[in-house]
Amino acid sequence: MKTILITGANKGIGFETAKQLAKLDFQVIITGRNEGRLSAALAELQQINKSAQMLVMDVSKTESIAQAVETLTEKDIQLDVLINNAGIIEDKDRSILNKDFSVFENTMNTNAHGALKVAVSFLLLMKKPSKIINISSSGGSMSEPVGGWSPAYCVSKSMLNAITRHLSFELKSRSIAVNAVCPGWVQTDMGGDSAIRPVEKGAETPVWLASEASQKITGKFFRDKKEIDW
Ligand SMILES: NC(=O)c1ccc[n+]([C@@H]2O[C@H](COP(=O)([O-])OP(=O)(O)OC[C@H]3O[C@@H](n4cnc5c(N)ncnc54)[C@H](OP(=O)(O)O)[C@@H]3O)[C@@H](O)[C@H]2O)c1
Repeated sequence: MKTILITGANKGIGFETAKQLAKLDFQVIITGRNEGRLSAALAELQQINKSAQMLVMDVSKTESIAQAVETLTEKDIQLDVLINNAGIIEDKDRSILNKDFSVFENTMNTNAHGALKVAVSFLLLMKKPSKIINISSSGGSMSEPVGGWSPAYCVSKSMLNAITRHLSFELKSRSIAVNAVCPGWVQTDMGGDSAIRPVEKGAETPVWLASEASQKITGKFFRDKKEIDW
């Protein structure tokens, strides 16, 4: 049975991705900060696939990532796929001119630095071959016009895209494929009620990349299972 760890998977796109992968008979390990919500999500997942597990991990905290690596190492767990899905948009993220730099710092710390730290810290746990999938956003695109919304979030996703390309380059020799996904505008707590896509659609491309997609695909950005410009 293949094992997939998903960060930020106690709700939203991460949880839906976990459910779809559990149905495809993957062992799924869901992680997040809120332990109560993780336990509730795990109970639901185990109805689908008994092998599911949970792990509390805050991707914005280096010690928390190190603790998670230790726990997985003790359990002798190796990963076929790591999905960096955890992400935030802060309410105060309204202008790039915001003098409250904590908004920028927190957002970068979770969405970009967090994903990089998880990927690098988890390398010893990754099988050969294996895959890393980073959940990005069209907000991070450098080829589309700036949309004028949540600038710190958008910059963090541009950085995540750059991280994806560099990781892909360096990890080719270790047979680890690294790609990024734009899930579209999805109905979750982050996306809000006006979002146009159901959560099932948002999870579709990460599920495809984790399961059916060729191991040879690396260093690419995808939406709806099709490559898009960075
Ligand atoms: N929804 C959209 O329209 C949309 C569009 C494009 C891209 N995305 C991306 O898709 C991903 C999932 O978004 P979503 O819409 O599903 O959001 P969501 O419903 O708000 O869920 C976010 C998840 O991330 C976790 N999380 C947040 N900070 C974390 C941290 N420091 N450490 C660990 N986990 C953390 C949350 O759990 P805890 O609070 O328990 O930690 C939660 O499970 C994000 O990367 C987002 O940027 C979403």
